[in-house]
Amino acid sequence: MKLLPMVDVAGMAREEEEDLVAAFREVLRRGDFILGSKVAEFEEAFAADLGASACVGVNSGTDALVIALATLGIGAGDEVITTPFTFAATAEAIVRVDATPVFADIDAEDFNLAPEQVEACITPRTKAILPVHLFGQMADMPRLMALAEAHGLFVIEDCAQATGAELAGRKAGAWGDCGCFSFFPSKNLSGFGDGGMIAFRDPELAARARALRNHGQFRRYEYAEIGWNSRLDTVQAALLLARLPRLAARNAAREKAAAWYDELLADLPVVRPRAVRGRHVWHQYTILLPEGADRAQVQARLREQGIASAVYYPQPLTEQPAYRRWARPCPVAEEVSRRCLSLPMHPLLTREDCARVAEALARALGA
Ligand SMILES: Cc1ncc(COP(=O)(O)O)c(C=O)c1O
Repeated sequence: MKLLPMVDVAGMAREEEEDLVAAFREVLRRGDFILGSKVAEFEEAFAADLGASACVGVNSGTDALVIALATLGIGAGDEVITTPFTFAATAEAIVRVDATPVFADIDAEDFNLAPEQVEACITPRTKAILPVHLFGQMADMPRLMALAEAHGLFVIEDCAQATGAELAGRKAGAWGDCGCFSFFPSKNLSGFGDGGMIAFRDPELAARARALRNHGQFRRYEYAEIGWNSRLDTVQAALLLARLPRLAARNAAREKAAAWYDELLADLPVVRPRAVRGRHVWHQYTILLPEGADRAQVQARLREQGIASAVYYPQPLTEQPAYRRWARPCPVAEEVSRRCLSLPMHPLLTREDCARVAEALARALGA
């Protein structure tokens, strides 16, 4: 039986193979592999699509967060409020610049940072709020921005899972001081290896980040600061530039698949994800299983029927050994991480695929 996968990266590449090969060939012929012309072209196209004043390509979403924090001057002694229900890179970046992650609990409905929990975590040492637009849905940016403004805090958006998401006419990444994106192959703007981008409102900050990603080099062989080697490869930028025009249609295809799931899962005893805010771009379709359900068994039963599934995330970061020292009670994140299950979600899903998933899930739950 052919497995219905979580994502279909090769299937997407097949749809645009000619364009990708042409983009690759162009870079091969020019030979400008490091910070070549396609990097600047992609940065400009990405910034225009986003409505950001400048974008800086880096070599991963993780580095986008690290360099964004460093660019804003966040470091030792500073606290950054973030969510424990995220991929480790979000908090890892805070620790990498020697700042302290402060975990605020999430909202039970959208799994994003709960603004009232963020407010309760603000201290005189707080420097920034780092919301994650989890699973493709934007955090409550109007309330988080208001909090940031009232307390003089920076806002760094982790948009790794939300390229193309929008709220009140403004895209994810165009709200805060910086928006950090990932082009990891499973992401909405799917890359061909590692890659990332930082979007800025302030072009001067962008100029600093541009130097920091290249060893802190502001002018050739002039180092005013210690930086990183974190450039976006020209080949990666060229391929992503060729793919960018397909992003909107692919996000629309994800929305369609989510609507099919909503309809097909309606009678099952699961909590379906809700689009509560703006344009959700469905990086994941994550349900909550009934209380007490044996998640590993449900996954095994799905697998027996040829359906992949994944747990994003099995534990909040507050329960992970590396982050436990910053633990705070986050009961909603704890409960959600015990019950969540992500179903296959990608732009090539058909209604029949979603129906197969729904039928298999019904059997797996004994419904
Ligand atoms: C929420 C979140 N933040 C950060 C990252 C890090 O991105 P990357 O894998 O490109 O380093 C990811 C994805 O991997 C992510 O899902």
